Amino acid sequence: MSDKVKVTIDGITVEVEPGTRILNAARQIGGDIVPPAMCYYSKLEGSGGKCRTCLVKVSKGSEKDPRPMPKLVASCRTGVMDGMEVQNITSPEVIEARKGVVEILLINHPLDCPICDQAGECHLQDLSFEHGVGNSRYEFVRRTFEKIDLGDKIQLHMTRCILCYRCVYVANQITDNRLHGILGRGDASEISTYIEKAIDNDFSGNVIDVCPVGALTDKTFRFKNRVWFTKPVDAHRDCPSCKGKVTLWYKGDEVLRVTGRKDQFGEVEDFICNTCRFETKNTSSWVIEGPRQISKTSVISANHYEYTPLPVIKENKKLIDANKVEFERASKI
Ligand code: SF4
Ligand code: FES
Repeated sequence: MSDKVKVTIDGITVEVEPGTRILNAARQIGGDIVPPAMCYYSKLEGSGGKCRTCLVKVSKGSEKDPRPMPKLVASCRTGVMDGMEVQNITSPEVIEARKGVVEILLINHPLDCPICDQAGECHLQDLSFEHGVGNSRYEFVRRTFEKIDLGDKIQLHMTRCILCYRCVYVANQITDNRLHGILGRGDASEISTYIEKAIDNDFSGNVIDVCPVGALTDKTFRFKNRVWFTKPVDAHRDCPSCKGKVTLWYKGDEVLRVTGRKDQFGEVEDFICNTCRFETKNTSSWVIEGPRQISKTSVISANHYEYTPLPVIKENKKLIDANKVEFERASKI
């Protein structure tokens, strides 16, 4: 008998290891039914449970106890049970709750996407696009902060922070010298490095990659370009500190920035060191592997898609002529 447990999410059944969280079970199915996650990060122990964007409805608890759960639950924190049935995009209640969560996340977050370096790869931007409403019911004064330099390479815009704690977990778990945490409680909470001490550590740049919004940005890339005008290319090098597997973001021949390689859920495959990220921005240091696959729905893919003609188009002269422009564009890419 299989030790795995069965869970059905939005009508799709999957078998997973006991103890798997609902969010990870959904990720095994993939596609639109995967709940958004602004704070959970599978590579960071203890992450999740802060932002509530991953809320789902458990309409059947398990085979043994089929009662539904009384409230919506955070899918990144709730383990599956055998026979559990979960609703995400098929539940109007979940969609309505998610709208409310987005409204809360946007209470203090400025809509400065046109000047934010994270635009185009910001999870909050995507969420607001999908679930945001045009106005807010919040009537009080918004929090404002001065920009803070975290060393000479990282900039903190506290106004954009949604207090997901990912960067704190990075500071705790990836670097050996934590100088960074959250001070204060509730509305007064803020990321701090204790009197703006620099995070002087070879892995500190990873806080930029894990930040789901534009609160932590790369000062070496700041205002240099919009991400959708750059070309991502996978490359590696023999690095003594990390695996050296990165994505290089090109404009013409110039490497504008270096990041970890992000998967379809926006999580890096491997954390990279600061030398690879900040000090090695020249093609000659890298072995180029090829173009980075970016989701078709991402704004970064706009005008970069590969044209794969149907077999019938390749065989028919008239259709070849009719698709000439696409063929030419594909060959240029
Ligand atoms: S700075 Fe970014 S990663 Fe850190 S808590 Fe704020 S939103 Fe999360
Ligand atoms: S991703 Fe689950 S609460 Fe944030």
